[in-house]
Amino acid sequence: PVVYIPRDAAALSVGADEVAAALSLEAERRGIDLHLVRNGSRGMLWLEPLVEVSTPAGRVAYGPVSAADVAELFDAGFLTGEPHPLGHGLTEEIWYLKHQERLTFARCGVIDPLSVEDYRAHGGFAGLERALTMSGAEICAEVTDSGLRGRGGAGFPTGIKWKTVHDAHADEKFICCNADEGDSGTFADRMIIEGDPFTLIEGMTIAALAVGARQGYVYLRSEYPHAADTLRAAIRLAYQQEWLGDGIHGTAHSFHLEVRIGAGAYICGEETSMLESLEGKRGLVRAKPPLPALEGLFGKPTVVNNVLSLCSVPVIMANGASAYRDFGVGRSRGTQPFQLAGNIKHGGIVEKAFGITLHDLIYRFGGGSASGRPIRAVQVGGPLGAYLPEDKFHLPKDYEAFAAQEAMVGHGGIVVFDDRVDMARMARFAMEFCAAESCGKCTPCRIGSTRGVEVLDRIIAGHNREANLALLDDLCQVMTDGSLCAMGGMTPMPVRSAIKHFPEDFHRPAHTQAAE
Ligand code: NAI
Ligand code: SF4
Repeated sequence: PVVYIPRDAAALSVGADEVAAALSLEAERRGIDLHLVRNGSRGMLWLEPLVEVSTPAGRVAYGPVSAADVAELFDAGFLTGEPHPLGHGLTEEIWYLKHQERLTFARCGVIDPLSVEDYRAHGGFAGLERALTMSGAEICAEVTDSGLRGRGGAGFPTGIKWKTVHDAHADEKFICCNADEGDSGTFADRMIIEGDPFTLIEGMTIAALAVGARQGYVYLRSEYPHAADTLRAAIRLAYQQEWLGDGIHGTAHSFHLEVRIGAGAYICGEETSMLESLEGKRGLVRAKPPLPALEGLFGKPTVVNNVLSLCSVPVIMANGASAYRDFGVGRSRGTQPFQLAGNIKHGGIVEKAFGITLHDLIYRFGGGSASGRPIRAVQVGGPLGAYLPEDKFHLPKDYEAFAAQEAMVGHGGIVVFDDRVDMARMARFAMEFCAAESCGKCTPCRIGSTRGVEVLDRIIAGHNREANLALLDDLCQVMTDGSLCAMGGMTPMPVRSAIKHFPEDFHRPAHTQAAE
C-alpha cells in the first residue's frame, strides 16, 4: 500500500516525522510492505500531520495523526480506507479542498515533490515544452493575455514586465525569484517550494526563454531551511534530467539556476534591496528608476518575480492564456492562493479565483475564529496591509476593489483577530515593525516610524489625545508621500485603517487599555 505523509515544514512542526517513523515501524512489525511517500502539504493545516492512503476509490485522509494513533489506525484497517474517528473520507471530497480552484497549487500535496516522473505524470513540463516551440515575444504575449499580475503584492502585469526585459538590449539578462516571503501570516511561497518545487523551476525557465536570460537565482529567506533543501535537491534532479543546464530538453536553449539564502531582513523582500543583497551588499533600497527590468542585477535587465507569479506560469502555458483569464473578476484575473492565519479555526491555503469575498474565506473556508469568539478585525496583505472591520467583509478579493477601500490584497495573507484585540496596540505595532525593519535610507521611514511609536504611546496613555491624533495623521501623510519604498510608504495603511475603523480603541480611558 502507498501512504502519504507530508515533509512540509508545517507538518513537521506538529510531528510528521515521528508519525512517518511510527508508520514504518508498525508496518514492519506487522509484516506489511508499506510504500511511504513524503509529499507536500494539502494546505489544510489544522489536519496536519495528515496521513493519506491510496485506495481504488482515491486517496483517503486521516488527521491530525500523532505517533500514538498509528497502531490503532492499522487495527482499524486504515490501509484499505476503513473509517476511523480521525478519518475524513476521500481527500478530494473534503469541503475545504473540493471548493477550491487549484491551478497554481494543483500538484501541491498530491505528488512526491522530488519525483520528476510524478511531476510529469501530473502535467509537469507541459508548459515548458510548449514554450520551447514559441518565440520569446510570443511567450510574453501569452502571459500578458492571461492577465497574470504580480502575486508578490503589487499586482503589476507579469507579461508587460517580461516584455520590458525582452525588449532591452544587453549581453546578459537575469531571472530572479523573490522567495523572501516576509509578510506576517503568509506561507504560500514556502509551501509550493516544499511541495512542488519543479513548478517554480519550470516557471523560471519559461521566463528565461521569454526574455533571453541564461542565469537565474532564487532568493530564499533563511527561515525556510526545509524549502532550501527541497529546492536544491529539485534543481540537482532537473540538471540530471536536462530540464536545466545547457541544451534544455535537447534544444539549443540553456538556463542555469542557483539558490541564494537571505539573512533575515524583511526589507530584502523589496526587489531592489534583494538585488543589492544578491550582489553581496547590504540590503539597502535603490531609487527607481531605473527599473530592475532595465537595470537590475549587476546592472543588467532583470525579471524580478514572486514565487507565486512564476509558479502560475506553467499552467498558463500548458492550458493557454484564456483558460487562466476565465477565472477572476474585473482586472484581477486567474486565481490567488489565499493564506488563512491568526485566530482562525481552519488555517491554510485556499486557492480561489479573484472575486471571492473575505467573508467566504474566513467563515466558509476558515470556519470562523479558533477561539470561537466573534471576529473583530482582519489584516489583509501583510504587516503593511489595512485592518478591516466586519462591515468590509463583503469586499470581493480584487486589486481594484481593495485599493478603493484604502486596503490591498497583497500577497494573499489574511490574519484574523477576535474581539479581544486592541487596535491601538496593533497600530503601535505597525510603527514598531517599521522602525525595526527600516533599511534607514530615507528620513520619513527611518525617523518617522520611531516618532510614530512615541506618538502612539502618548495616545494610548491618554495624553493630549486629539492633538496627538492630528500629529499622527500628519506624520502618516509625510511617510506616505515621502518614503522611498513601500516599507515606509505603506506602514500608514494599517495605522490609519485602525484609527478609521476602530476609533473607540484610541479613545478608551487609559487604564482600560489591554496590557501589552
Ligand atoms: P511597485 O508597484 O513599485 O512595482 C511592482 C513591480 O512592477 C516591480 O517589480 C517593478 O519593478 C515593476 N514595474 C513597475 N513599472 C514597470 C514598468 N513600466 N515596466 C516593467 N516593470 C515595472 O511595487 P513594489 O514596491 O515592488 O512592491 C510593493 C508591494 O509589495 C506592496 O503592494 C506589497 O503588497 C508587497 N509586499 C509583499 C511582501 C511579501 O512578503 N510578499 C512584503 C512586503 C510588501
Ligand atoms: Fe529604506 Fe524605509 Fe526608505 Fe524603504 S521607506 S528606502 S525601507 S528607509
